[in-house]
Amino acid sequence: MPSPIKLEFSEKYDDEHSQNYLLKHQETLARRLSHKRDEQLARGALAMAGEPGLVLDLPCGAGRFWPLLAEKPNRVIIGADNSESMLKIATVAQPADVVKRVRSLQTSAFDIDLPDNAVDSIFCMRLMHHIGESEHRLAILKEFQRVTRDSVIVSLWVDGNFKAWKRKRSELRRIKKGKQGSYQNRFVLPAATVEAEFEQAGFRVQEHLNFIPLYAMWRVYVLRKR
Ligand SMILES: C[S@@+](CC[C@H](N)C(=O)[O-])C[C@H]1O[C@@H](n2cnc3c(N)ncnc32)[C@H](O)[C@@H]1O
Repeated sequence: MPSPIKLEFSEKYDDEHSQNYLLKHQETLARRLSHKRDEQLARGALAMAGEPGLVLDLPCGAGRFWPLLAEKPNRVIIGADNSESMLKIATVAQPADVVKRVRSLQTSAFDIDLPDNAVDSIFCMRLMHHIGESEHRLAILKEFQRVTRDSVIVSLWVDGNFKAWKRKRSELRRIKKGKQGSYQNRFVLPAATVEAEFEQAGFRVQEHLNFIPLYAMWRVYVLRKR
């Protein structure tokens, strides 16, 4: 068996970083509003996916979507993450009645510790924008194709909006000034590229939802297994 892919960015989620990640989404009014909008998109996406009964939240991070996933009373939730620290934070930070409903699982998205067709849906928020290489995204998507029976809900950054244009412009300025950073851990992807990757991994795009149309980079896709 080849050893699963390990990325540098995955290693940063230790106890301190996990605690900071939990606080980050609660810190300012803007962050709290942004979380509300994330929840709105997630609810819409789950409805489009047919309100799946068994959901794998991967990566679950600090469990910020667990209360939302638990809104459907009989839903079974698996909260999975690569980082033991993140899982620990999630189980103490989220409400006890919600945590009771979640089975936690430490696993990599490249090599999910579950059998084929194990869940109705994989709910994957804020992972793909960290994956710069097409080969790595395809490895994750193929693993999703193996583990989901029906759908995948995935968020990432796409081009074709004001923020992506602005980001590109400041990157070009940095390059011109010879200040290009060597380590980049978040990537804006051409929508056409990721959509072709979804197809290649065996999914069809059912729908997409934009965080703020034509302005923000975040987009949530609802994918159905072919
Ligand atoms: C930006 S956080 C997003 C967490 C959550 N989905 C959210 O939106 O709040 C990224 C998460 O990905 C996890 N992660 C990084 N590499 C991973 C991998 N290869 N497999 C599974 N999880 C990974 C990190 O531990 C971290 O919890």
